[in-house]
Amino acid sequence: LIVRKSVFALEPYEWEPSNQQIAARAGIDPRHVIRFDTNSSPYAPTTLLREILANLDDLHVNEYPDTSYFAIRKLLSQYCNVDPEQLTITNGADEGLDIAAKTFIDEGSNAVISVPTYSMYRIVAQVMGGHVREVLRKEDFSDDTEAILKAIDERTGIVFLCSPNNPTGNVASHETLEMILDRTDATVVVDEAYYEFCGESFADYTKKHENLVIVRTFSKAFGMAGARVGYLIAHKNSTELMSRVRPPNSLSVISLKLAEMSLENIGLMKEHVTKITAERERVAHALAKISGLSVLPTKTNFLLVRFRERTASEVYEELLRSGIVSRDVSKLPLLANILRFTIRTREHNDLLIDKIRSLE
Ligand SMILES: Cc1ncc(COP(=O)(O)O)c(C=O)c1O
Repeated sequence: LIVRKSVFALEPYEWEPSNQQIAARAGIDPRHVIRFDTNSSPYAPTTLLREILANLDDLHVNEYPDTSYFAIRKLLSQYCNVDPEQLTITNGADEGLDIAAKTFIDEGSNAVISVPTYSMYRIVAQVMGGHVREVLRKEDFSDDTEAILKAIDERTGIVFLCSPNNPTGNVASHETLEMILDRTDATVVVDEAYYEFCGESFADYTKKHENLVIVRTFSKAFGMAGARVGYLIAHKNSTELMSRVRPPNSLSVISLKLAEMSLENIGLMKEHVTKITAERERVAHALAKISGLSVLPTKTNFLLVRFRERTASEVYEELLRSGIVSRDVSKLPLLANILRFTIRTREHNDLLIDKIRSLE
């Protein structure tokens, strides 16, 4: 086989195990598995799906989608308060990250990444032959702006920030972004996958700064992780460059229709976000009352819990035996003994709280 060098060198993404794999490992029925590990939403846009079903004759799956994705770009331009020429529609945020890397990372260039963070930044950069420069966040999880600026040089293709950050849950600061944009022509990618849970965005900066790309998704607040729709917000000049490398038809007409309807019925998403953030506060309070652990606040749809009397891996295994799947982030820097839990329905969250309480 003749394979690109970067593929051999790559440490691939660790896929989440399936419900079936988890159930087999825990010795339980797959139907009893509850996923607190994927940061998806417990609420699918079921009413919108039913509406699609009632109007199936309008859904032309025999035809390709409109490759300019005009309808959804128009709706998104209102939602994001940017021009339609600033929007690239993608097959989930992951394809958006991939398109940014294909456009801005050259063989032998580097990507600066504020870590710990979402692991796809490293992967999309390495696939393009870029070297990764990881910059450790500060103890309070904020980006280490000085260290990021030091890591940037003339060979930097992308600086990756994530706001709010997965897995630390905090937002990036305006000063950090402004200082980086001031100092470099390298592209700054800010991943705002969890934007709707905090309402703070850097999208406005794309009007002035050609070298800023915002990554968004319908996978989290909109409850559409399985439909795979995301988008990029950028200056129209960099949007034009990214449109050269994007695949012309990576979204299905079904997913596009669902995303368009979600934007036309924005109240539904907002209702779900209100429920999830209220649950996040309720769960955080309930867990904080349990001894032997502390809860770290986040601006997202997940919580971090640091265990003191047991190792995170022990707790992970113990929860798994009851079908409760968490994300063990304890091997990442700054996150010793921490598990990450996605907020789910009240009923499921109560099961989690009860189970953690019973570990005392
Ligand atoms: C920070 C961040 N960006 C992107 C993604 C991937 O989103 P999508 O499902 O839109 O590809 C995730 C998913 O967990 C994420 O946490």
